[in-house]
This record gives sequence, C-alpha cells and structure tokens, in this order.
Amino acid sequence: MKIAILGSGGREHAIALQISKSKKLRKLYCIPGNAGTSLISKNINLKLDSFNEIYNFLKDKEIDLVIVGPEKPLVDGMVDYLNKKNIKVFGPNQKVSRLEGSKIFTKKICEKYSIPTANFGIFKNKEDTFKFLQNRKMPLVIKADGLAAGKGVYICNDMESSKNAVSEIFNGKFGKADQILVEEFLEGDEMSYFIISDGLSYKSFNTAQDHKRVGEGDTGKNTGGMGAYSPSKLINHDLEKKIISKIIKPTLEAIEDMEQKYNGFLYAGLMIKDDEPYLIEYNVRMGDPECQTILPLLKTDLLDLIIACCNNNLKEQNIDWHEKKSLCIVLCSKGYPESYKKNIEIPNLKNLELNKNNFIYHAGTKISDDTIHAVGGRVLNFVSISDNYLDSRNEVIDQIKKLNWKNGFYRSDIGYKVIDK
Ligand code: AMP
Ligand code: GLY
Repeated sequence: MKIAILGSGGREHAIALQISKSKKLRKLYCIPGNAGTSLISKNINLKLDSFNEIYNFLKDKEIDLVIVGPEKPLVDGMVDYLNKKNIKVFGPNQKVSRLEGSKIFTKKICEKYSIPTANFGIFKNKEDTFKFLQNRKMPLVIKADGLAAGKGVYICNDMESSKNAVSEIFNGKFGKADQILVEEFLEGDEMSYFIISDGLSYKSFNTAQDHKRVGEGDTGKNTGGMGAYSPSKLINHDLEKKIISKIIKPTLEAIEDMEQKYNGFLYAGLMIKDDEPYLIEYNVRMGDPECQTILPLLKTDLLDLIIACCNNNLKEQNIDWHEKKSLCIVLCSKGYPESYKKNIEIPNLKNLELNKNNFIYHAGTKISDDTIHAVGGRVLNFVSISDNYLDSRNEVIDQIKKLNWKNGFYRSDIGYKVIDK
C-alpha cells in the first residue's frame, strides 16, 4: 500500500518507523516530516493547512491511506475533506474532534453522560467570571476553550493570578474567546489512557505517564512534554474496568447519539484519586511523547490495525504488547519552552549505535547537505525498552551523553515516580 503520514513531530516519526516495518507497505510519504522521517520515507514539503495541495499530491501519487498525526488538521476538518474526495483516512472527523477542539464541548458531554470530571463553571465575560471567583477555594484551574498547544491551562493559587488568567484568555491570547472554563483543582496522580477505535468497536492502546513541566521534579513552565514512561504505574484490571465503564463507554455513547463514529486514536488524560478515574481532557490523537514511548512496545503490525480501523473490522484484530518497560527522554534546545536558537548542527547523531531496544525519534530536525540541524524546541526523543524503568532510563541517558550535543538539555528524572533512585 501507499501510505502518507501528516505531521512533523516525534509522534509522526514513531508512527512512520512502525509502518515502515509492515509487509503491506509499498511506499511511505511524510507531509512534511522531519530529518528522521526522511531516512525511512519520502518527505513532502506541504503545509498542513493547505488541504487542496495535500489532496492534489495524494491523488497524483495514488495514495491508498492517510494517517493524521496532530490535532490541528483533525479539528480543522481534514478527515471530512479527504473522505469527501474518496480518500481513506485514519483519524476522527471534525465533529468528534471537538472533544479536543473545545474543552467546553467535552465538559458538557461529561455533565450529560455523568462522566466523572472536575466540577466546573462556564462564563461568557470577565465580569461574571470575576464575580464567581470571589471567595472560591484555591487552587482553581482556568482554561481557554479551544486548541492552545498545551498552553491554555492556568493553575491559579490566588485571586491575582486567577484574574490575570481570565484577562489573558478574554483578551485573546489563545484566539477569540467567547467563553471560559473554570474548574475545581483535582488532586491525584495523572495517567494517559489510549484507545484505538474503528467506530464500531475499540481496543485499549496502552497507558503512559508524561512529564509536562520543563524542570526536574515537575517544576517550571509547561512544555509539549519532556519525557514519558509506559505503562503507567497506576493501571490495573479494576481501574481499567472503571475507566472503560465510567469514561470511555459513555463518551462513545455520546458520539453515537450525535450520529457520528469515532475512527482513530483517542487519548484520555485522567486524574486518578483513591482508585477512581476523573477525566481531565480528551485528545483526538496519540500523545507526544507518549506515542514514541508506547509504540516500541507494540508487537502487532500497526498498519494492520490502522487498515482494520478504516475497514470497520478492528474487532477481528488482536493487539499484542511486549511485557517491557519503556522510557522516553526528550532532548530540547537550550531556552525551550521560551526562545531558543534555530539551525544548530547536531554533529554526532550519525555515530550513535542503537541496539534493537533503543530508538531515536526526531522532532524539530531538518536535514540539509547530509547534515542534521535542530530547528525546533523539542529536538530528539530517546527511547529505550527493558525489564525495568531504571535500566531503560540509564540506557537513554547513556545515549544522550554519547551524543554530547552542546546546545541541548533534558530532564534526567523522567520516571522518578516509578524509579526509587
Ligand atoms: P490539559 O491541557 O487540559 O491537559 O491540562 C494541562 C495540565 O494541567 C494537565 O496535565 C494537568 O496536570 C493540569 N490540570 C488540568 N486540569 C486540571 C484539574 N482540574 N485539576 C488538576 N490539574 C489539572
Ligand atoms: N503529551 C501531551 C500531549 O500530547 O498532549
């Protein structure tokens, strides 16, 4: 088959590597891809908001199936657009992508279908929100409704920071804001739970825990993700049963009631408190770096699963996993998540020797004249799988030290909640 993957991050490189191993693959394209994907597929330099140009390329090359990696094209309706043109796509349509595109949409579903989540209020202007904030117990969580690249969530400990968050959101920091979401702060441990769905049935697609803060000990600014480990330490049979019956099933029922189907990965960001799951948010795609962390554990051919989803026969597929512990550390450019230098060479990358349990997935990289340069904040994802999290982390740190990239930094404590020393 001829396959095209949309996206340019570590998640898309990880998907591309997995697909490149499939016997069913004849030709693989990444749009636009990165330096890593250029080594295993052909990169096509098109913008993801140019639906028409992408369609022309897909038609010209007679692409059989498209896999959409990031949320933006899903929320913007790429799947609907390509389906109308009779191109098979793995990913949810625009209506159901609102699960990520609008936090308020998801909260309303939680309310209607009794899905456990933080108590919340929705407000239409600053004045009403400020009134509500009077005499509230802190911390409070204040959220912009739409996509905000992980930046539209404020955890506020006092009135001043709460008012500041409300003002920033209504002043348009994350685009035009007609509404704002204020939530109770949930204590507990976070976990990412994934499913893959063809619209008729779904299967669990493993769990992970990511580390979003830039600094050791989960301190400092929020980032796209500094590392992750999989599986989550929290998951067990009873908890999974609760996640499915209290969160996943009612959500899929809501989608059915909308007369829609969910095709693709669905990522539930959960807070676990006293063995009970609460939904924090949905994402309508794999996580990044959770995807890079989970996929090395997958034994089953990923392309078979994706084809099954597009043909509505996921039910017939088994999904098998290696019983190993996976850990990913993201190597970033110094300065990230604030400003950082671009076009910095990464000289030693080609000299690293990887065994079958080690992986390097590119994110913000580009190749020119056979030299790899960093062009983004999150640059490379180092992943290792082994029998325990500590060995995986040691192996990853060993590799990063061997690379010895002077412009990079990373968190050496990824997985500290599951590693004693
Ligand atoms: P989100 O973009 O919705 O995933 O939020 C980013 C992060 O904010 C989450 O991963 C949580 O760590 C935190 N967060 C969001 N909502 C809440 C909440 N209601 N209570 C506690 N933490 C939250
Ligand atoms: N790692 C968080 C996300 O992909 O949204």
